[in-house]
Amino acid sequence: MKARPITTIKTVVAGIEAAGAGIKLFTLADPDHWELPPFKPGAHIDLHLPSGLVRTYSLCNEPADNARYVVAVKREADGRGGSRALHDEIGIGDVIGVSLPRGGLTPDADIASHVFVAGGIGVTPFLSMARHLVRTGGADFTLNLIVRQELPLASHLAPLIDEGRVVVHRTSRSGRPDLASLIGDVRPETLVSCCGPESMTEDFERVTAAWPEANVHIERFVAPAAVIDLDAKPFTVALARTGTEIQVRAGQTMLAALQEGGIDIATSCCGGICGACKLGWLEGKPVHRDRILSPYERERYLMVCVAGSDSERLVLDL
Ligand code: FES
Repeated sequence: MKARPITTIKTVVAGIEAAGAGIKLFTLADPDHWELPPFKPGAHIDLHLPSGLVRTYSLCNEPADNARYVVAVKREADGRGGSRALHDEIGIGDVIGVSLPRGGLTPDADIASHVFVAGGIGVTPFLSMARHLVRTGGADFTLNLIVRQELPLASHLAPLIDEGRVVVHRTSRSGRPDLASLIGDVRPETLVSCCGPESMTEDFERVTAAWPEANVHIERFVAPAAVIDLDAKPFTVALARTGTEIQVRAGQTMLAALQEGGIDIATSCCGGICGACKLGWLEGKPVHRDRILSPYERERYLMVCVAGSDSERLVLDL
């Protein structure tokens, strides 16, 4: 049973560029040179690789540049295999399926300034946002880039560095900067955002604890370890559009139960951080556990890879 086809756009690799130690920039374009579906600055896409792996990357280019999607990929020798496949097996002209873009920065008239904090390759979503803000003359921003020594995407960041919009912090020279002082005091018109390794995003979460939730944005690229809820009870997932009912065993994820039941679900991180598996829910009491949905979004959506249920029956909009 296939409840919902996983939609991808066919793209071809139109360019590959070395962009720093172990980093390649991949440019994806429509095979017939059509415009690609629109995206917000800093949005991300899932790449469906020929091997079957699905991996999520932030777009580095900006929305006005609508003929291509550009992603930066750092080769992680000990990673889950996606970056190795892209670096070692993908060449110009190869076909890659791409999800519709999601997430990113929504231009907000109430935001007068941004403080971006990026760790290494975590600069990619902010490069897209910075380019957009510079081109549109939008809100003021400062991009703090924390690296050990070498800059990722150096030639792409150079114009922003020359204009004084990027402050580079080299930990090999001056140690790790104090995130609290980079962010400053709570200011209602400022959005503070972070993308980097887990230790950095955890620190960022701690130093922004006093900020209103709406003024803090965190992009994660490493999913936290899965939490096994020993007290979780079995429950029934009902699919509203087909009437199908599927049992989720105690200790089993809803994603695994749905897949076992033959339902295709798009996934990438399987850890509640990428948004690939987002589904609407209609009835019941979900236990969310993801790190991406806002409280408002949680009233309508859940991430099926990590969500559980506090009710015996949960109805999905599927
Ligand atoms: S697969 Fe990434 S949030 Fe579920």
